[in-house]
Amino acid sequence: MAANPAEKKETVFYYPPVDFVKNAAIPGMDAYRALCRAAEENYEGFWEELARENVLWHKPFTKVLNDTNPPFYKWFEDGELNVSWNCLDKHLANGNAEKDAIIFEADDGTVTKVTYRQLHERVCRLANGLKSLGVGKGDRVVIYMAMSIEAVVAMQACARIGAIHSVVFGGFSAPSLGERIVNAGAVAVITADMQIRGGRRLPLKAIVDEALALNDNHTVKNIVVYRRTGDGIPFTEGRDCWMDELMARQSAECEPEWVDAEHPLFILYTSGSTGNPKGAQHASGGFLLWAIMTMRWTFDIKPSDVFWCTADIGWITGHTYNAYGPLATGATILLFEGVPTYPHAGRFWEMIDKHKVSIFYTAPTAIRSLIKASSEDNRVAPEHYDLSSLRLLGSVGEPINPEAWLWFYRHIGKERCPIVDTFWQTETGGHVIAPMPGATPLVPGSCTLPLPGLSVSVVDETGQELPWGQGGILVINRPWPSMIRTVWGNDERYKTHYWPEELGGRLYQAGDGAIRDPQTGYFTITGRIDDVLNVSGHALGTMEVESVLSAHPMVAEAAVVGKPDDLTGESICAFVILKNELPKGEAAKHIASDLRKWVSREISPIARPKEIRFGENLPKTRSGKIMRRLLRVIARGEEITQDISTLENPAILEQLRQSL
Ligand code: WT7
Repeated sequence: MAANPAEKKETVFYYPPVDFVKNAAIPGMDAYRALCRAAEENYEGFWEELARENVLWHKPFTKVLNDTNPPFYKWFEDGELNVSWNCLDKHLANGNAEKDAIIFEADDGTVTKVTYRQLHERVCRLANGLKSLGVGKGDRVVIYMAMSIEAVVAMQACARIGAIHSVVFGGFSAPSLGERIVNAGAVAVITADMQIRGGRRLPLKAIVDEALALNDNHTVKNIVVYRRTGDGIPFTEGRDCWMDELMARQSAECEPEWVDAEHPLFILYTSGSTGNPKGAQHASGGFLLWAIMTMRWTFDIKPSDVFWCTADIGWITGHTYNAYGPLATGATILLFEGVPTYPHAGRFWEMIDKHKVSIFYTAPTAIRSLIKASSEDNRVAPEHYDLSSLRLLGSVGEPINPEAWLWFYRHIGKERCPIVDTFWQTETGGHVIAPMPGATPLVPGSCTLPLPGLSVSVVDETGQELPWGQGGILVINRPWPSMIRTVWGNDERYKTHYWPEELGGRLYQAGDGAIRDPQTGYFTITGRIDDVLNVSGHALGTMEVESVLSAHPMVAEAAVVGKPDDLTGESICAFVILKNELPKGEAAKHIASDLRKWVSREISPIARPKEIRFGENLPKTRSGKIMRRLLRVIARGEEITQDISTLENPAILEQLRQSL
């Protein structure tokens, strides 16, 4: 019978399977609510207990939260620990030394495994190697590597000696890399001779050389190079060395550097709405605690699990859920060098089958592209693989549309596996809103409810909490252990960007809009409220792309907006005004293609505009402000119904509209 469209569609819930609930860390909604209540009743006591029970402290903390100088909060500040000790040595002492820590599958399918003992030894050797180069506590080390065991070793080795790593995604260009190296004041760079992805080689070390050559104010003294292919690459005597040669000379034991809980563990650059990328600084103790707790709660991690998070270590997801969280909980992780579509689009399913993956965590954009691929070519459909090892699925990076959710649920999870749609950010260090898989009834398209301990609200522009059912600004009401501590080298930017005065200065503003379901209180993220785009789950500042476009010799002015995209969630549409006359036909195509290459080279391929439209001008207010909301409407091909009375040059709208 056809549903009456006037009736409110009833919400369909997907409940956790009984077997799952039985062994779950949080078995049922009562258990979830009890944890939430515990946090409400005694906030500091809640975190204190978790931190004492789940983190190994060299020196126990006596203070839980220091909130005397908001928004510069400190957690467990007089405690001492070492994150790498918590991720490695702990398991050697627990009889898990021979357990596989990492299963690595290379682009060409070659598999390499390391046990916790072997990983520990490699980390110690590299840690000693870095020390021998003079790298020490508090020094910044940029890691520019592809997915590899060695990349995790590099991160852990930094943590072991108290050096602060800053991983730069291997897809970033020399200028972007150089900017980050300079901003972090890095003393060393760890890289690889080559990166191999989808059968293609990318010369990482050469890009590092180029990045340094672009910046004569950099402070890099050493480059350590992982030998991925052994291809001949230029070496600078006295500055560059091979990682294997450096490690061979070292002892296999390295006493960890005990650091304060607040000691920075890493900086990770993330795009802002304005200006240069921001270095999100994370603290050792709080970050580790939340990485561990979310592994237990959101992923329900068990000793027998094979955990596969497909995110690159260049993003926060690869930090929390590849390099740290799973290792701190003694799991076996699968690490993949390649791309989901090479040599065929069944690669993910093949790998789940081959390695008996039990928890699979990926991005909606990957799911959507694989849905498309399998509908176009049945040979790569998941039905051809044995996926029975799976027990839990996860999604991250952007809202997952209900169609993709249902496909994932049915075709990959076979209706047996809960899906955790995890909302969080580089700045939050770990999950903020996500279902607890043995408790929360799932609704496709909703990330459901906050993690226990996190107090999240939807507020209006003045910081007033809004009733359920009303869309507004997503905020976190109280400081939490894994929160960003500051923007590296820029306290002021941290304060004004994340703790806006308009909201009263005491609420953390995520930068997303959200709405809560009137019945369930479930959260749905409605998208960024600032000028940050989300392309394939990666945040990109419109300003960043605009300034690169404007720096092209032919370009006079450029404006960039996001546009919904079936595959990547959002895609970039650029409106470009050239210095010369308006290009037409073939000439326009050529210039557009040049501009795409330019952005790709200056930032990264992710930032490449999908659509470029040329015009003689941009829609501007009389005071000269670009009216982006109109550009958004044009990019979407919609009718302009908004007020354009403040527009200086209304005729330009028609020209831009016809420019496709
Ligand atoms: C932004 C953060 C979290 C690691 C990957 C991205 C969006 C992230 C979800 C989700 C809806 C999501 C938000 C957020 N986002 N996860 N499950 N549902 N939106 O980290 O680059 O710091 O980007 O990604 O807009 O603010 P990031």
